Amino acid sequence: MDARSTRDRAPGLALVIGAGGGLGAALADGLSGAYPAVLRLGRTTAPTIDYMDETSLKTAADWVAAQCAGLQLELRLLVVASGFLHGAQGQPECSWANLDADYLSHVFRINAIGPALVMKHFLPLLPRQGRCVAGFVSARVGSIGDNTLGGWYGYRASKAALNQLVKTASIEMRRRNKDGICVALHPGTVDTPLSQPFAKTGLAVRPAPEAAAELQAVLAALTPADTGTLVDYRGQQLPW
Ligand SMILES: NC(=O)c1ccc[n+]([C@@H]2O[C@H](COP(=O)([O-])OP(=O)(O)OC[C@H]3O[C@@H](n4cnc5c(N)ncnc54)[C@H](OP(=O)(O)O)[C@@H]3O)[C@@H](O)[C@H]2O)c1
Repeated sequence: MDARSTRDRAPGLALVIGAGGGLGAALADGLSGAYPAVLRLGRTTAPTIDYMDETSLKTAADWVAAQCAGLQLELRLLVVASGFLHGAQGQPECSWANLDADYLSHVFRINAIGPALVMKHFLPLLPRQGRCVAGFVSARVGSIGDNTLGGWYGYRASKAALNQLVKTASIEMRRRNKDGICVALHPGTVDTPLSQPFAKTGLAVRPAPEAAAELQAVLAALTPADTGTLVDYRGQQLPW
């Protein structure tokens, strides 16, 4: 945690989940210059968050609530920067011939079910009054309207599921706070372990600190009119 003077900074506290990842770490670093306190959670923090274990989310949410009370700051920004594309559980599919139940199960667990459990345990911590933002890092390839290339069945479908969860949560959030904002975010192609095996020449791959700074600017500029949308790192709305 990085607690600083509240002078000249955004009000309230920021929380990054997935803070051990390439983008999540860069986002937490960048936000610490703009918020009086930034909390980082992931599989290697204390407390931990592991989407394979819902108890870890409940314990971590209780810890965040205690931090807010102790620091006398409200949670004003939640960024969820977790995600899975490839690893020991499998690789993204080029063809329907490659579809594998275990890979599909894992990619849905990390990209959709995990963030859904984050909604359950952390969205109630956001204030009922005043501007607050929940940003879930998704991916452009999760857009059904934008799918012209095919491939990556599991990753695409799990991010499309995340997008639907974000849209649904945005409607519930608006009922409890008219100034609450809940969006899905496309970070562009970022140089992280997730993208490295697939980075092609010609693709605009940006360093994580640069991509994080762009997303941070987008998050700062969002208004309640943007809630329930999929927004990219330039602040442009993408089709669902
Ligand atoms: N890199 C790109 O080009 C690109 C493009 C489009 C979208 N995205 C999206 O951007 C987000 C960040 O990805 P990245 O590029 O930073 O990848 P990364 O460096 O591989 O980070 C992956 C993140 O996922 C978290 N995670 C993995 N398994 C988890 C589990 N079981 N429980 C909880 N968290 C788990 C990791 O948490 P720990 O903190 O515990 O390590 C880590 O923060 C993802 O949503 C990704 O889909 C990335």
